[in-house]
Amino acid sequence: MYEDLNGKVVVITGGSTGLGAAMAVRFGKEKAKVVVNYYKNEQEAIEIKEKVEKAGGQAIIVQADVTKEEDVINLVQTAIKEFATLDIMINNAGMENPVPSHELSLEDWRKVMDTNLTGAFLGSREALKHFIENDIQGNIINMSSVHEMIPWPTFVHYAASKGGMKLMTETLALEYAPKKIRVNNIGPGAMNTPINAEKFADPKQRADVESMIPMGYIGKPEEVAAAAVWLASTESSYVTGHTLFVDGGMTKYPSFMAGRG
Ligand code: NAI
Repeated sequence: MYEDLNGKVVVITGGSTGLGAAMAVRFGKEKAKVVVNYYKNEQEAIEIKEKVEKAGGQAIIVQADVTKEEDVINLVQTAIKEFATLDIMINNAGMENPVPSHELSLEDWRKVMDTNLTGAFLGSREALKHFIENDIQGNIINMSSVHEMIPWPTFVHYAASKGGMKLMTETLALEYAPKKIRVNNIGPGAMNTPINAEKFADPKQRADVESMIPMGYIGKPEEVAAAAVWLASTESSYVTGHTLFVDGGMTKYPSFMAGRG
């Protein structure tokens, strides 16, 4: 438990499913005030709100499409109106759809970039405005991926969005460090969430992914949530511009494990 998170206001984009939902519930356990953003499925968001409250926190739900500037502004303003301030912004919403790069339409490229990178920029910008205007030593956490460093054929738009997020986070961290505003990434490996549901339902594909993870198992959303509360707490007060990989060692060149090379 991180006592300084008690009463803190946290916005989580894509907070009604997968990693976002696990973070919402964990911040609830820390007695934070959680703004659960959802995209389309209101019922899922209501269920997560109830789980946050049961865990000991407070929660509201807010619909927003992170690709739309006015929606992101409204999301942050609603958080400030309902809970009087904003302390932690978690830009977690994301999507992927594999397509051979030579067949990738401009529309699909833009959709992934707008959701994963531009959405995180808009969330960061709106949070920064509030932090600066109110002299808050706020905290931004962007949900990146191991694919901010590992190339991923047929996911060129996804990899480009997460690679862009790496330098966006590092740049914002540098720019706002004098104000003690911290900006970090979490880089999950393969996690058990809806984004992977189809892939992991196939035992062959699941085993294939597991073989690329030195620790030998697919990560649990709670393991990412544990990293998020640490990054949001004062326990990580000197950490900024960093990507915290939560990946069971996936970024550590698993093909070299047997001492080859
Ligand atoms: P998920 O599919 O459960 O979560 C994605 C969330 O983003 C959903 O709640 C979805 O509704 C929301 N979303 C999509 N487009 C949106 C939009 N335009 N506006 C608002 N919300 C939108 O999957 P998961 O795994 O929880 O993904 C969360 C983040 O973690 C994503 O950024 C993903 O790229 C990242 N990630 C996930 C990994 C995994 O293995 N599950 C690995 C590395 C990164």
